[in-house]
Amino acid sequence: MPNRAIAIGLSIGLFGSAWCVVSIPVRAQDPAAIARAEYDQVLSLTPDLDNGREVYLTCAVCHRPEGWGTLDGTYPQIAGQLRTVIIKQLADIRARNRDNPLMYPFSVPRILGGPQSLADVAAYVAALPMTPRNGVGPGVDLDLGGQIYAEHCARCHGEAGEGNESEHIPLVAGQHYPYLMRQFDAIRSGRRHNSDPKMVKQIDGFTPRDRAAVLDYTSRLRPPADKLAEAGWTNPDFPAYVRDPMGATPTPPFPPELLEAPPPPGPPDYPVVPPAQPLPGESP
Ligand code: HEC
Ligand code: HEC
Repeated sequence: MPNRAIAIGLSIGLFGSAWCVVSIPVRAQDPAAIARAEYDQVLSLTPDLDNGREVYLTCAVCHRPEGWGTLDGTYPQIAGQLRTVIIKQLADIRARNRDNPLMYPFSVPRILGGPQSLADVAAYVAALPMTPRNGVGPGVDLDLGGQIYAEHCARCHGEAGEGNESEHIPLVAGQHYPYLMRQFDAIRSGRRHNSDPKMVKQIDGFTPRDRAAVLDYTSRLRPPADKLAEAGWTNPDFPAYVRDPMGATPTPPFPPELLEAPPPPGPPDYPVVPPAQPLPGESP
């Protein structure tokens, strides 16, 4: 719960942004400026993890209770992402500075809540342990991927893909490969409006092989051990949630007796049906 000081800070913040809207209306229409103002405001708040857990109930439907997303990258892993990155992405998405038609309706203040709720859920998600088994690429071109990563990515995303909290550069280690591919393309083509212009320049001219190799390598970078969940971990905050088998029960081996068993009997022969006879008076 926000204490009195935060409530006062919040009203000053809100008053401050209202003042901006009045004084510089052209900039206030700009989604990037709106998102930036909210980002600054959220960073000044003290997060409440209990409320973060409540807010996260909405997110769990897509990002799963553990925040691990799905291996096919439809939903990204958000668990363990840097807090500033989560705040920036949420602020960007709801200011429409990053298109996310699927998630947009759940990000608006009426559903997610105001800046305080955003601060709360970001802190909650950032503290979730990450899956040790994310979706990776085919693993065929990792030497090239490693070279490209060191030359073109490490400077910003870190040697181990750990990101940069103060510059809100995403942690990319352990992210699902298909999601990395999708974002890379969106960033390169400009479809992702909030992308970093310096990164766009850096990846200009990458061939399809370069892109696949570097992102496969990236998906295999391991987050630090203290960020990873123990094997079999499920989020105890959502005990009744019906989970899909992602990252859980592996398929049991096929029993060998069944492999050697004789083939099952075929269907019985059908009785022979005599040909139809013409009715009395009918010509055959
Ligand atoms: C209806 C499904 C849905 C819901 C509900 C949802 N999300 Fe998302 N979220 C997505 C999808 C899909 C993406 C990736 C979109 C893309 O490909 O650009 C995403 C992306 C994100 C990202 C950006 C991740 C990154 O690394 O770029 C963050 C952060 C995020 N969601 C947090 C949340 C939080 C917090 C909530 C709850 C308040 C939430 N989401 C609710 C579907 C959802
Ligand atoms: C100049 C710094 C810089 C360089 C170099 C750079 N990036 Fe980025 N990258 C960023 C920033 C900043 C973002 C986040 C932009 C935003 O949404 O605010 C980002 C976002 C991404 C994302 C989306 C992550 C997510 O969770 O949504 C991927 C994937 C990515 N970068 C991969 C790469 C790869 C691979 C390379 C090297 C080939 C690279 N980047 C080089 C700065 C950089």
